[in-house]
Amino acid sequence: MSPARRAALPPGPVLVTGATGGVGVPLVLQLAKRGHHLVLSGRDRARLDQLSEQVRERGGSAVVRPADLRDATQVQQLVEQVLAADGVPAAVISLAGHSIHRPLADSLDRPHDLERLTGTNLLGPARLILGLLGPMGERGSGVVIAVTSATARIPNPGWAAYGASKAGLDAWLRAIRPEAARTGVRIAIIELPLVATAMAAPTYGSAPRGALSPEQAAALVLRALDRPLTLVSPAWARTGAVLSQAVPALAAHTTGIAGAWVTRLSRREVRR
Ligand SMILES: NC(=O)c1ccc[n+]([C@@H]2O[C@H](COP(=O)([O-])OP(=O)(O)OC[C@H]3O[C@@H](n4cnc5c(N)ncnc54)[C@H](OP(=O)(O)O)[C@@H]3O)[C@@H](O)[C@H]2O)c1
Repeated sequence: MSPARRAALPPGPVLVTGATGGVGVPLVLQLAKRGHHLVLSGRDRARLDQLSEQVRERGGSAVVRPADLRDATQVQQLVEQVLAADGVPAAVISLAGHSIHRPLADSLDRPHDLERLTGTNLLGPARLILGLLGPMGERGSGVVIAVTSATARIPNPGWAAYGASKAGLDAWLRAIRPEAARTGVRIAIIELPLVATAMAAPTYGSAPRGALSPEQAAALVLRALDRPLTLVSPAWARTGAVLSQAVPALAAHTTGIAGAWVTRLSRREVRR
């Protein structure tokens, strides 16, 4: 989209969590070219420093604010640092995430999988967004973009804890969205399909067939920044979500078969 046609952002930095990840890096480098002041967050300080150097090489500006989203104190500190030193964000892009693929039989003694994933994918992002929504609403403008998953609203065997954490964030955001909108803050949800990043590699290999490239995924995030969208999601995911509600037994059966098929196909590609 040409710069002239993009929705204008208010003044203020763009905060990106998961900045150092597979999708995060190309996204940050695109944002840098646009001249936004960036606040880069993740846990790995060295990788954040490296990325902020790349931003500067492209003529952009960035500060790094490491934080572990599973740690409530660190999230609170991140909120305070951003507001005190960087200013009320023009946009918050909640991209950080963690996934675990584990069948039920192997999960029976692992309730901590749920704690770990809800900490990273639901509670941490929600704490961060809650801390920033007030000042953004007082200013009367801003955008919150949260990345969930195309299967967040489709029960997906083997991904129960991940799906629960992403579905929880999805439900929470949908519920607060109308009130946030009344204060001038738009909330957009991006349901990403499979993307060829480190996250997908343990299950699908390094070059899964049919996966988006990290650059394509980053482009979807930029699309949600540029247009007044509230949901970016593949057509199959929207349909799957409707079918999961309308015909749950059939949808669960089909999802199980389709999931296994997708995993097999992707792995076959990698072995070639
Ligand atoms: N890849 C896919 O197939 C796929 C599909 C659907 C949705 N998604 C979603 O897309 C988003 C980006 O995924 P990706 O593929 O770029 O994953 P990735 O390459 O594994 O990157 C994950 C990012 O999240 C950060 N992170 C992980 N745990 C964190 C924690 N506890 N606190 C703070 N930051 C943390 C990581 O940084 P540090 O390690 O430095 O903390 C890293 O920057 C995620 O929300 C993911 O769930 C991905």
